[in-house]
This record gives sequence, C-alpha cells and structure tokens, in this order.
Amino acid sequence: MSEGDVKPTAPVVAEAHNVDTYHVPKAFFEKHPNKKPHIDGLDQYKKMYKESIEEPDKFWGNMARELITWDRDFQTVHSGSLEGGDNAWFLEGRLNASYNCVDRHAIKNPDKPAIIYEGDEAGEGRIITYGELLREVCKLAWVLKEMGVRKGDTVALYLPMIPEAVIAFLACTRIGAVHSVIFAGFSSDSLRDRIIDAQSKVVITTDEGKRGGKVIGTKKLVDEALKQCPDVAHCLVFKRTGAEVPWTEKRDLWWHDEMEKYPSYIAPESMSSEDPLFLLYTSGSTGKPKGVMHTTAGYLLGAAATGKYVFDIHDSDRFFCGGDVGWITGHTYVVYAPLMLGVATVVFEGTPAYPDFSRYWDTVEKHKITQFYVAPTALRLLKRAGDHHVKHQMEHLRVLGSVGEPIAAEVWKWYFEIVGKENAHVVDTYWQTETGSHVITPLGGVTPTKPGSASLPFFGIEPAIVDPVSGKEIHGNDVEGVLAFKKPWPSMARTVWRAHKRYMDTYLNVYKGLYFTGDGAGRDHEGYYWIRGRVDDVVNVSGHRLSTAEVEAALIEHQAVAEAAVVGVSDELTGQAVNAFVSIKEGNEINDALKKELVLQVRKSIGPFAAPKMIYIVPDLPKTRSGKIMRRILRKIVAGEEDQLGDTSTLSDPSVVDVIIEEVQSKK
Ligand code: WTA
Repeated sequence: MSEGDVKPTAPVVAEAHNVDTYHVPKAFFEKHPNKKPHIDGLDQYKKMYKESIEEPDKFWGNMARELITWDRDFQTVHSGSLEGGDNAWFLEGRLNASYNCVDRHAIKNPDKPAIIYEGDEAGEGRIITYGELLREVCKLAWVLKEMGVRKGDTVALYLPMIPEAVIAFLACTRIGAVHSVIFAGFSSDSLRDRIIDAQSKVVITTDEGKRGGKVIGTKKLVDEALKQCPDVAHCLVFKRTGAEVPWTEKRDLWWHDEMEKYPSYIAPESMSSEDPLFLLYTSGSTGKPKGVMHTTAGYLLGAAATGKYVFDIHDSDRFFCGGDVGWITGHTYVVYAPLMLGVATVVFEGTPAYPDFSRYWDTVEKHKITQFYVAPTALRLLKRAGDHHVKHQMEHLRVLGSVGEPIAAEVWKWYFEIVGKENAHVVDTYWQTETGSHVITPLGGVTPTKPGSASLPFFGIEPAIVDPVSGKEIHGNDVEGVLAFKKPWPSMARTVWRAHKRYMDTYLNVYKGLYFTGDGAGRDHEGYYWIRGRVDDVVNVSGHRLSTAEVEAALIEHQAVAEAAVVGVSDELTGQAVNAFVSIKEGNEINDALKKELVLQVRKSIGPFAAPKMIYIVPDLPKTRSGKIMRRILRKIVAGEEDQLGDTSTLSDPSVVDVIIEEVQSKK
C-alpha cells in the first residue's frame, strides 16, 4: 500500500438498496439433468455455511473424503493459523493430482470426453477422451522424467491454449514436479525472470502459437529468455504450426519425437497433501512479481468444491471457461475443477472476436455447453459489437459466470438477457490467485443475485470488513471498508516462493489474525458483498493483473527516463488502463518517437498487455519533500477530478500540479 490513502472512496453501500434482486430462473431447473442443483435452496446453503464456519474440521474432512481419492487417508484436517502463516490441511494424507483428474475417470469411462479443443480457426480442433488423456499424460510424464525432472523440481510452461498445455500441467503433477506456468503473452524478459526465480531447469513451449489469426513466436521468445538462463537443461517443443524455428542441439527436443519413445502408462507418484502443486507468478504492490505457491490437497479440494457448488457441475456437463491457462482462472477452472469432477472442459485457443464476434456463442452452441465462464472485459467487447452476433439459442446453458473484475450492472444484465435469454443463472465470482478458488460468490441455481454484487461467502470463508486506518473490524451490515478473511481455508496460497516474509507482510501481517485481500468492499443491508476494487497499487487491465511499480520499473529501464509514475484509470473497454507520467533526462528530445519507444520498452519488459494507453511527458512529478511520488494526485487528475486534489501544500513544488493538469487536458 502507498501513501496511506487506502480508504475506498467508492459510493457507500446504501446505493445497493435500490438494485433488483434476481432469482434463479425457472428454466434453470427445467433443463437441469436432475431438475435441481446439488444444493436445494438458500436455506441448505446457510445450514452448510454455518457448519463450515462452526465445525470446519468436520465440514472439510467430509468434503475432502468425498471429492478426492486418497492413496492414504489423513488424520488431521487442519493445523496452523493466520497469525503463524503455517496453515496446513489434510496432514498425513497422500494423493496424486493427475490420478484424481484423469485415472479415476478413465477407469470408469475411458471414452468420455475430457478436453474439447476449439482451435483458433473455426472448424479446427478435436475431442480428447479421458482414456486418451491418461495415455498422453503418462507419456509426457516419462519424457519429463527422462529429461531429469524429479519430484519437487519446477517446470516452466510457456504455452498457448492447446490441449498439450493441460497435458503438461498433469504430467508434471504425475511425477510430483511443480508447474510454473508463464502466460504466453509475457515478454522474454518476464519469462527469464520467472524461470530464474523458480529455478526451473526445463521449459515446455511450442514452435509458435496462434491466436485470433495472429502468430505468436513462442519458441523465439523462449530462446531469447534462455540466453540468460544457464541452468535450463532442456526445452521441449510441441509443433503447433510447423514453422521453421531456431534450434539448439541437445538442449531442444521435439515433443512428438520424445513422446514416441515411452509407454503409455506410468504409475502416479504418491504426494503429501502439503507438497507444492504449482507456482504462479502474480503482481503485487512492489515491482517484482511473486511466485504464489499452492499445495496439492487443499488446492484441489477448493477447485472441486467450487466447481461442484458454484457451477453446479454434474456428470454429463460440458464446461467452458474462457480464461487462459497462464492465469489462475485457467489453472482452476479450465484444468483442475472440471477434471477433478470428471467432466469435459473446453480449451479455447482463439479470441472472442475471431473470425467474428460470434465465436464464443458458436462454440457454446456447437458443444452444448452447460456452464460458461468469462471476464467482464470480453463481455463489454461483445456487448459493444452488437446483439446481432448472439443469434444462438444456447439452450443448454444453466450457469453463466463472471470473473476477475467488477461487472457493471448493464453488462451483467446484457449477459443475463442476451446471452442467457433469462434462462441461465449469472454468478459473479470473486477470488484471487492467492485464494486458489472462489471465495465470495453466488452458488449456481441457489443464491438470489444482485447485478454487481459477488453476493455471499463460499463455505469456510468468514469475511471481515475492516477499517483500513484503525485496522478494526467493522461489524454489522451497511458498512464499507477493506476486505479480509478471518479463517484459513483449504485452497489458500501457502507461501511466496522463497520469500515467506513477503507472503506474511503482504497478506497476513497487514491486519494480525486476518488474511488481507487488497480489495475494498462493502456489505449491504442483506449481508451481500460489493467488491470495490484494489486499494493497493495493483491495476486490472482486461482482467490481467499488473502492478504500477512493475510498469514504472520497465519505463525506467529506458535510458531517457528520469522518473516515472504509473496509475490505473478506468476504461470503458478494458476495465482499467495504464497511464504513465514520465519525466525525461536532460538532453533528450521529447517527441512522438520517444513515446513510442517507451511503449515498446514496456512491451519488451513485461508484455504487450501491459503497454500504457497514455504516456504524459512532464517536467517533474508531484513529490513530497521527502521525495515520495504522490500518485493519488495523478489519479485524480486523469480522472478529471482536479478540483478534489486535497491538500497539495506538502508537495516540494506545488506548481508542478498545474503543469500536469494542463498536459493531461491538452491530450483529451
Ligand atoms: C479482482 C483473478 C470484482 C480483485 C481470479 C482481486 C474481482 C483481483 C472479481 C485478483 C469480481 C476478481 N469482482 N473484482 N468478481 N474477481 N477481482 O489474482 O481486485 O488475477 O483482488 O485473480 O481481481 O486477480 P487475480
């Protein structure tokens, strides 16, 4: 957090009193395979929720035995505390993630579809059954083993949205290796930093990726990154496009050549509940991304339990999450939740706009999708493109999910009316990379919803609204503050890779005894939660999480930049956009070419999705006398609230404010 300005300034929850409540549509029940969801009404939710809070060991113990197949049962459900930062779940238990996601379903029904691959070009794709998935996962597990990967080693995955990404996740888990997925939109510099931080010795990638008709040079980017990763012994390359790619003999190996060499079965490695399952780097308040670590049993349980109750997944369902496997949404809801529950999951390679704005709906219709899950940024784009792109009946849809950012009421209603034809239940799910699975969310088919509210806590989650200044919990309803949780839950991140102190300081030491989310929130008169957005320096661009400090660090790498300050501004399409204020070292010419170079610098250091939408070149930044940049002032100026700057007398040079206002206004 910066500058102590953490108090959410969003409207008070009283506003929420006037919004409509939407009940589960009748059609939800009519088209339901069992005519009712797993949980029969809000009262049953309340009863189960109460038990999950009052008797968490009993609740989670039962849930874990129901949803996970154990090699060896556990005796202790939970140990540790939020104060201590040493939470552990299902101790003594042993299990394997790939067994739980593949084998147990393949044994029962090898011909059941596991992956529905929808390629970038319409008509391109295939179905992979659980039986086939098992064989592929096993062969790749052999390949990794032969490449020297051992239990506990990290493997870097830099892969587009293809079935092989899912196979790679599961092959790692089969031999007890820890996957560290790097979103394929990250630059080679970001990839390098994550490979080095995680100490990965093997990287899996493709020759190229395809997305929205465009080609992504994944292998080239890996080569660039590996120039500075001397510890990487091997790079395994899946041939996606067949393009000529540079090759480093001995280090680089073709996926298809290696897979041929090995048998189609390898026994799963039995892992402890608390063995790491994966690392996923995410942005926080400071510059360096954190390797958030999740462990095996607790995470899988969170994925399976939310899949079952939030999406109301049933055996015959076909689940479509539009998130990328490079982010947590893809980890939990493309891969682990649907596969834990043994249903088919869509791997969608392209974009919602390619070849046209009907692509999602074509896919939903074609595969008779029952649950669809996507970020509001995509919905805003599709809403703007026009309703005529949504001609499809999509009659199998029961649940429509939203994730990653607040969804505006008009977008929520569009989703419900135009996509769902008022026949599907909309669930706005709030969670984070660190929470592993949904924490505040309606349950599909159960919870009455209000557009814009993530509604009520999931099982085991005990939210607190905290006064950010005093750090005291604010009790009762109709309150506003920052959001924290009072109890540990199974799928919470256990640590930041090789930086446990940072984990403690970011999440558990901010308010002692609580998990701090970093978000502002309100609780309305009915106990419904309204997420207001981050109170720290994290910005959310099209559902991609970025820290302003990260973008600033990238800008400063440019030789002409003296200082940089980055703020998030609200943006109609992307939710938030990055705006940068930059002062330039003397002797450099200020022109459009320089601005272009600065944008390129950010693309190179982080990735294209982080590129600033606006760069303001200013003579100086607003700073306190001790030299601290007052980003709050910049945020107000770009929001057009220059009349609400508050006290600027503490600035070392208050006159810079007027210069900045003029610069911003001249660009509008
Ligand atoms: C935001 C994405 C409002 C929030 C799963 C959180 C949301 C951050 C919602 C985590 C929602 C996520 N409504 N805001 N339903 N879901 N957020 O780690 O600010 O990429 O802290 O995880 O996204 O982003 P992350």
